[in-house]
Amino acid sequence: MVMRSLLLLFLCVTCSAYTNPSDVSALKSLMKQWKNTPPSWQQSKDPCGERWDGVICTNSRVTTLKLFSMGLEGTLSDDIGKLDQLQTLDLSYNHKLGGPLTPAIGNLTQLTSLILVKCSFTGSIPDELGNLRQLTFLALNSNKFIGRIPATLGKLSNISWLDLADNQLNGTLPLSTNASSGLDQLLNAQHFHLNKNQLSGSIPKNLFNASMTLRHLLLDRNQLIGGIPESVGLVASLEILRLNNNNLTGTVPSSIRNLPHLHVLNISNNNLNGQMPNLTGMTRLQNVDISNNKFDPSEVPSWLTGLTGLRTLMMQSARLHGQVPQELFSFPGLEKVMLDNNELNGTLDMSNNISKNLQIVSFENNSINSITLSSNYNNTLILSGNPVCSNPHLLNTAYCEIQQETLTPSSSDNITCSHPYEGVMMFRAPSFGIMLDEFISKLEANVAANLSCTPHSLTLEDPFFDEDGYLEVKLVICPSNKNYFNRSEILDCFDISSQKFIPPEMFGPYYLSANPYSFQNRVIRGLAIGMIIGFSLLLIGLVALLLFALRQKKQAQRAISLSNPFASWVSNGEESDGAPQLSGAKCFTYDELKRSTNDFRGINEIGSGGYGKVYKGMLPDGRIVAIKRSQQGSNQGGLEFKTEIELLSRVHHKNLVELVGFCCEKGELILVYEFMSNGTIRETLSGRSGIQLDWTRRLRIALDSARGLTYLHEHANPPIIHRDVKSSNILLDEKLTAKVGDFGLSLLVADSEMGHFTTNIKGTLGYLDPEYYMTQQLTGKSDVYSMGVVLLELITAMLPVHNKKHIVNHVKIALDKQDKEFCGLKSIIDPVISNSGKLVGFESFVDLALQCVEESAENRPTMSDVVKEIEAILRNNGMKTTSTSESSSPADFTSSKARYPYDDLYSRSHASSSAFAYSGGFPSRGSSRPSSS
Ligand SMILES: *[C@@H]1O[C@H](CO)[C@@H](O)[C@H](O)[C@H]1NC(C)=O
Ligand SMILES: *[C@@H]1O[C@H](CO)[C@@H](O)[C@H](O)[C@H]1NC(C)=O
Ligand SMILES: *[C@@H]1O[C@H](CO)[C@@H](O)[C@H](O)[C@H]1NC(C)=O
Ligand SMILES: *[C@@H]1O[C@H](CO)[C@@H](O)[C@H](O)[C@H]1NC(C)=O
Ligand SMILES: *[C@@H]1O[C@H](CO)[C@@H](O)[C@H](O)[C@H]1NC(C)=O
Ligand SMILES: *[C@@H]1O[C@H](CO)[C@@H](O)[C@H](O)[C@H]1NC(C)=O
Repeated sequence: MVMRSLLLLFLCVTCSAYTNPSDVSALKSLMKQWKNTPPSWQQSKDPCGERWDGVICTNSRVTTLKLFSMGLEGTLSDDIGKLDQLQTLDLSYNHKLGGPLTPAIGNLTQLTSLILVKCSFTGSIPDELGNLRQLTFLALNSNKFIGRIPATLGKLSNISWLDLADNQLNGTLPLSTNASSGLDQLLNAQHFHLNKNQLSGSIPKNLFNASMTLRHLLLDRNQLIGGIPESVGLVASLEILRLNNNNLTGTVPSSIRNLPHLHVLNISNNNLNGQMPNLTGMTRLQNVDISNNKFDPSEVPSWLTGLTGLRTLMMQSARLHGQVPQELFSFPGLEKVMLDNNELNGTLDMSNNISKNLQIVSFENNSINSITLSSNYNNTLILSGNPVCSNPHLLNTAYCEIQQETLTPSSSDNITCSHPYEGVMMFRAPSFGIMLDEFISKLEANVAANLSCTPHSLTLEDPFFDEDGYLEVKLVICPSNKNYFNRSEILDCFDISSQKFIPPEMFGPYYLSANPYSFQNRVIRGLAIGMIIGFSLLLIGLVALLLFALRQKKQAQRAISLSNPFASWVSNGEESDGAPQLSGAKCFTYDELKRSTNDFRGINEIGSGGYGKVYKGMLPDGRIVAIKRSQQGSNQGGLEFKTEIELLSRVHHKNLVELVGFCCEKGELILVYEFMSNGTIRETLSGRSGIQLDWTRRLRIALDSARGLTYLHEHANPPIIHRDVKSSNILLDEKLTAKVGDFGLSLLVADSEMGHFTTNIKGTLGYLDPEYYMTQQLTGKSDVYSMGVVLLELITAMLPVHNKKHIVNHVKIALDKQDKEFCGLKSIIDPVISNSGKLVGFESFVDLALQCVEESAENRPTMSDVVKEIEAILRNNGMKTTSTSESSSPADFTSSKARYPYDDLYSRSHASSSAFAYSGGFPSRGSSRPSSS
């Protein structure tokens, strides 16, 4: 007995190490038809025993095949049907895996999850899917399926998630009949995501019944006609109902009031008519969009004031007339109100109790003839196209401007790396209509905490609402401490396609639209294949091996020179003769810098951002320095790094933070700067540093910064465009002299990996030149724009984007030239200066700042014009324009080459190959100048 069970145990241990032969042959034939299978998939290896990536086995049988984002190409053949113990099949995000979906899939009767998101499957969805009775999760969204939704899906009685969205499915929604099944039988389904297809016919009344447990019903963007059936009110579990962008007609049934959990209702862009729907008592509603239908004209419905949970209200073109109820604006969660293109009239009363979350209120094209606005409301209000805008007080304000959507580019604090795992998270029915910063950080923490592996840096970027009202958020995950993810990390860590990650409820249902990952190429694999060539080919094999070895050696040498591009500079351990190109900047070893920062300890950290971290350190000679360590721990870009160090080390100006040295080892990108003891002007303006800058000091800071930048633009060779001028890049030394920092580093980090995923646009939100953003033509005028924003910060101490409005708008709205003392800016001036006596030259300074932020680069002054103008302001008021040295003349050249490079400029400006961005039109001097008197 004991012997027998031992024997059984033994058998089981051995058998579990070897895969069932039928599964092996099925996998091997799949492998033959696919390009880019993982390198661990080798003929000679056993799939279960020797762990092929993406294959998971139980008792020698393959139960999971998960190969998302692998870059597989080819088709899915009948062989898949032989893996008859398969429970999970996930081949998502292989954009070139497609062709028709084989009916053999219907033989996988153990399957619980079938996930084929964002591949390129075509043809119709096979009826055989109806045989997969264990299926709980079916996601075929974002493919190219055509034809009808098979009625057999109605047999999937365990299904919870049914996602067929974003295909080209047509025909009607299948219902059960005596002879066949239909969607109405899916009583365990919580999600019907059938949006973005070409479904036609009406929404059948029998689709809904009281036994259903449906939470999310998405039928938007189809071609459905007819009315919304009364029976929808039977599905009491419904939380999200999206029927928008169809061709629905008739009145909205009053039974929707029976949906106590409904929080998102979108029936916009249909032909619904009759009375305005009656939403009395639906207090859970957060996001309501009933725009663009044909309801009977009505007053603003009285039920509106009862929907106190609203975050977003959209009732554009809803034929509303009369007064807007004042209570609306006091709902505590309210963020967005869009009531454009109605006939609302009378007074818009936003005088008190305005929700503190309210960001946008739009009444474009109504008949409002007056407004009372609380001074507490500082966010967007759009009134263009109303009689009230003929009022001279409002005429030229932002309230009455014709609005144009401005896209906001991502800020430079995004994490960047050369080979991130990327995708877009598509939230199809969020319960809010404005993405507040707090939401994105909440979501970021949530996603990070729900990934199976933690030590990677993850960011969510560039959130926006697309034309379907879906919230799109870019997901970027960088590998830590290396260049690439490997396959098992991708498969184990980023299993998002299967909805393992559940976002906070307010985000609603989502899917990830990820990209295939470009893995590092392996040379080894070619070698392994070469090795198994038969005995008769041994000779050839040997020769191949020899050649291969030679190549490896060359590559190894190349790798060494890449990882240490400075080798030639430090050949004898003496950097002086090895580095003739460097004037001043020293080459430190990694260990030296590590020691000077206590092993890059957190306590030495003085700043961090997308580029990496900044540490305070002490060099062996006692000098205090700031050590900036880029996140990119690789030798990638080593040569560019070298080139840029050469350039930066030649740049010396008293208003530029000095580069003391750099690290020339181990592919680390580390720069060592002089330490600026009084921090950034951003810190100072925010009051955090305890230093108060009086008005004259601010003028000097502006002058210092402009001089530093003028040097970069006009006197460095080649000229340098900073591209990230901002108040947190301007630092103050112990004497409060301002110095511009960080020139070049932003280029270093990003440009070397350009083309892979970053856009060409670099810069920080709020400082970005709008013209550069539109045209991608970078000139010195882009820095001038950013400088203008800094000047406005010096006046107001405001952040560039304050209360969701740009500082330029804040200033322009308040501006009033009648007011000789403060130009109307009294209410927004930094109290530190407005309380401290006369502001000499204030008006000229405001003028200058506003010229710098002119929309069109042509109308902006050059940086040297800015210098001259500030000098004039100081001089006209009897102040010195210099503190320690002479005027803005080109000072401190260290390289004889770096002299008035104007002639050089135009010829160079077209050579885009250089790492530096000196391309495109530095204006010749005098071509535009400030017109201020
Ligand atoms: C499914 O399995 C049955 C029985 O094992 C077999 O006869 C049939 O050919 C398979 N279907 C496909 C499409 O492979
Ligand atoms: C659905 O699409 C298929 C293939 O594109 C087409 O043959 C068929 O006529 C369409 N059916 C309907 C009802 O539009
Ligand atoms: C919508 O339906 C109406 C009436 O049923 C019809 O006249 C109209 O052409 C349809 N519009 C579209 C875009 O299908
Ligand atoms: C909406 O329904 C409520 C509750 O049944 C009713 O009291 C109210 O009069 C209705 N409003 C309209 C405009 O029909
Ligand atoms: C608003 O319009 C209505 C008609 O829709 C009219 O009866 C009313 O007098 C108007 N109110 C004001 C203040 O103009
Ligand atoms: C709006 O601006 C006014 C005046 O500048 C200020 O007093 C008020 O606190 C601001 N309100 C909010 C909500 O920031």
